[in-house]
Amino acid sequence: MTSPTSPPKLDKYSKENPWYYKDLTSHLAHDSRKLLEEYSHIPPEDIDAHVYKMRNVLWTHAPYPCIGEFKFLTLNLPKHPKYTHLLSLLQPSPAALGPYLLDLGCCVAQELRSLAHAGIPSTNLFGSDLNPSYLTTSYQLFNDASTFHGTLVPANIFSPTLFDSAFKGWEKKFKVVHAGLFLHLFNREQQVDVCERIVKLLREEVGSLFLGEMVGCAGGGERGPKASKFWGKGEERRQFLHDEDSFAKLWEHVAEVTGTKGKWKVESRFKERANGEGDGNGGSKGCAFFTGEGIGWITFSAERVE
Ligand SMILES: C[S@@+](CC[C@H](N)C(=O)[O-])C[C@H]1O[C@@H](n2cnc3c(N)ncnc32)[C@H](O)[C@@H]1O
Repeated sequence: MTSPTSPPKLDKYSKENPWYYKDLTSHLAHDSRKLLEEYSHIPPEDIDAHVYKMRNVLWTHAPYPCIGEFKFLTLNLPKHPKYTHLLSLLQPSPAALGPYLLDLGCCVAQELRSLAHAGIPSTNLFGSDLNPSYLTTSYQLFNDASTFHGTLVPANIFSPTLFDSAFKGWEKKFKVVHAGLFLHLFNREQQVDVCERIVKLLREEVGSLFLGEMVGCAGGGERGPKASKFWGKGEERRQFLHDEDSFAKLWEHVAEVTGTKGKWKVESRFKERANGEGDGNGGSKGCAFFTGEGIGWITFSAERVE
């Protein structure tokens, strides 16, 4: 029951939610703007109007905070400590097909467009997301329906038939799997499930790499709303956020259940957000969804060494 003093409950589609930013000005980073200019060939003076228009389309499809906050254009991968290594890993060899990269929970697949712009053949780039409309709208957002030849596949990562349907033929296919702002959506048990699938997707060879970035928290633990209006269908869960130690423990658990113990080198960097500071993922002043003590940003990687 709402008391006379408590604020009214907002529908997830409400544009009054604090993560539906009204003004783009400080939320579109220079590199995202440049991608829209140079890769999508959108005239500089049209970019703001284009982004507002596309944000509204995406918001009506699925109103995630990353849409409201304009983070669907944020490029985190180029700032990842492993980015230069990643580019070298993805160089095509004349002798074989690939190497392939999969971006899990890719939303509008902005990271794939950025990789294509950096010279990686788009045929080697794969993306998957729960919301098919994010994937289909992405061609309009990036103006590349005739030039982007990557593969974008709608799928629920938890589907029990994943490898017989959407991901059929994808076992051991990928040299790299990237997950940006993805694992932190889930509780720890679900994260283990997701990571088991990631291990299944990666090539069983030295150098295969899982990497990503997400909101973290000092000490590692559950954060965010419990009875979330986001998850829908009455689903309740608390999201598990990591720091370096908790991420290492998560991967230890994953290695154990996948029979790959001792075969990974795990690295991560957690940085706590100082009061009022941006959340460290470029161009954005803070993250309106997660607030409070110890919240920060973590980049991570697990590389196959055996
Ligand atoms: C916070 S957004 C991050 C998007 C993008 N990776 C980025 O860094 O900007 C999370 C994405 O995960 C997708 N997602 C949520 N649950 C999923 C699931 N069960 N299976 C696949 N994708 C899911 C959402 O649709 C959304 O696009």
